[in-house]
Amino acid sequence: MSLLNNKVVVITGGSSGIGKALVMEALAGGARVATCARNLDKLQDLQAQDKLFCYKADVSKEADCKAFIAAVTERWGGVDVLINNAGISMRALFEDTDLSVIRELMDVNFWGTVYCTKYALPAIMKSKGVVMGVSSVAGYRGLPGRTGYSASKFAMQGFLEALRTELLYTGVHVMWVSPGFTASNIRNVARSSDGSAQAETPLDEGKLMTAEQCAKIIIDGLVKRKRTVIMTGQGKLAVWLNKLLPSLADKMVYKHFLGEHDSPLKKYINQ
Ligand SMILES: NC(=O)c1ccc[n+]([C@@H]2O[C@H](COP(=O)([O-])OP(=O)(O)OC[C@H]3O[C@@H](n4cnc5c(N)ncnc54)[C@H](OP(=O)(O)O)[C@@H]3O)[C@@H](O)[C@H]2O)c1
Repeated sequence: MSLLNNKVVVITGGSSGIGKALVMEALAGGARVATCARNLDKLQDLQAQDKLFCYKADVSKEADCKAFIAAVTERWGGVDVLINNAGISMRALFEDTDLSVIRELMDVNFWGTVYCTKYALPAIMKSKGVVMGVSSVAGYRGLPGRTGYSASKFAMQGFLEALRTELLYTGVHVMWVSPGFTASNIRNVARSSDGSAQAETPLDEGKLMTAEQCAKIIIDGLVKRKRTVIMTGQGKLAVWLNKLLPSLADKMVYKHFLGEHDSPLKKYINQ
């Protein structure tokens, strides 16, 4: 029997991409799943399932997170796992970026994690469950054109690492996972310098890991209570190179992102 059977698994940002695939994977494992997003229409086909609870919430708003977790505990009686997955990205040079973009990224990716964790923790302490963050390689290694995104994922990881240490002997497990490039909607809605959606992806999404493959790796890491999961060889290389040879990592990361379609870095090359 699956280790998730009948567990209460809360997944933020379940309306698309990795979050939606996580919802499906957790349901397939027999879990009772609660998810939130700002648009739940994309989950309409699933909402009839008696083991799925959908709630409209914006994780950048503390009151929404509080109400979401309260609704989950009322519905399912507790929380075993919280997966802080909801997130947004950006692509623009810092020089050109409106500061509201950085603030929005911190509000969703970092504060959304803090709010949901704060309100779910009492229930997770009781169940000796798991708090997880869906981070990124950008949480280990700053990426050009993604200053706000990198900052939000570094902040998420620092928060979770400190929390893990505080809770070391309580039975609660705290972990984060770092997907590589995964096919999803994230690059279409990534913020441009003025906060508008980028509206196109610079990558060939068809060549990336699928959200379903990514969700399987995340759920495997969850049931094994891993500390961290870096999902791709490219991600592992970037993290290790950055530790061992940081100046070389700067150059390699620069080269990689300069080679992206319409790279913002080209502005500095052409000057
Ligand atoms: N795809 C990748 O290449 C990749 C790589 C590394 C890490 N990640 C991380 O994986 C996570 C999921 O991203 P994804 O790739 O699956 O992107 P996605 O397809 O754009 O899905 C993002 C999800 O987050 C939700 N969300 C965004 N802002 C929200 C808010 N303020 N309140 C509540 N929900 C919100 C979205 O729902 P609504 O818009 O309906 O609110 C959606 O369900 C993110 O944390 C991302 O940083 C992705």
